[in-house]
Amino acid sequence: MNAVVRVQNLWKEIGGRWILRDVSFEVMEGEIFSIIGASGSGKTSITKHIVGLWKPTKGKVYVFGKDMESLSSAEIDDLRKDIGYVFQEGALFDSLRVWENVGFYFLEHTNMDERSVREIAKEKLRLVNLGEEVLNLMPSELSGGMKKRVSIARAIATDPKLIIYDEPTSGLDPITSRVIDRLIVDLRERTKTTAIVVTHDMMSAFSISDRILVLRRGEVVDIGTPEEILRSRDPFVREFVSEVREILAGQNKAL
Ligand SMILES: Nc1ncnc2c1ncn2[C@@H]1O[C@H](COP(=O)(O)OP(=O)(O)OP(=O)(O)O)[C@@H](O)[C@H]1O
Ligand SMILES: [Mg+2]
Repeated sequence: MNAVVRVQNLWKEIGGRWILRDVSFEVMEGEIFSIIGASGSGKTSITKHIVGLWKPTKGKVYVFGKDMESLSSAEIDDLRKDIGYVFQEGALFDSLRVWENVGFYFLEHTNMDERSVREIAKEKLRLVNLGEEVLNLMPSELSGGMKKRVSIARAIATDPKLIIYDEPTSGLDPITSRVIDRLIVDLRERTKTTAIVVTHDMMSAFSISDRILVLRRGEVVDIGTPEEILRSRDPFVREFVSEVREILAGQNKAL
């Protein structure tokens, strides 16, 4: 199996503070890889290096085998077609209709006619279980869960090989959160894309991930399968996953 993302001894300094310290990990093709950690631990910062928005202070980031730092901005733009990014804030364009949001890449970067872009938008919305009745709606007319789905549809519009989800379930109720979880797993099954999921939501991380990275103040504490993370002897990891342990213990008792 190939590594889609390889982060090697990544250090990042901003304003005299080290926000990432010696972070190393690999994400393999087809994997769902989650990054968990407290607020401010550096999760989003890692993803910014993967999409080439930030450059490492020290260390290397390879995406699809390419050293991000060696690429020109035109090459990075090109690479971004293969990376879907679901932003933490959702970040839909408020003044654009749903179909224009989903088809934004094609409207901006190609000469594709409106009908074809609408067709692509319709197809991608179908993948996130939204019907064509939403095509002409404005983001302000959507619920939080629908906005997330539209953001995901936009991220998959160019058929990326890698999707990065930054907090895909934040601000959603538990039921809608589980729907988004299923969607992430479903999309991986249907499109064979690799996924990096940044999340606060422990249940989500433990139910959808092949492997989980635990980050603490910019440092990797542990990387492993959900089972390995649950069995970790590290006191920080144990504390962090205690909520999941309790829920799982409760479920076992109930069975
Ligand atoms: N543009 C920036 N300029 C200065 N400091 C920043 C910047 N972006 C992030 N930081 C700092 O880097 C650290 C890590 O931030 P980051 O956004 O990566 O955390 P996070 O784990 O994604 O948190 P959250 O769960 O709240 O989204 C924080 O201390 C933050 O204040
Ligand atoms: Mg963040």
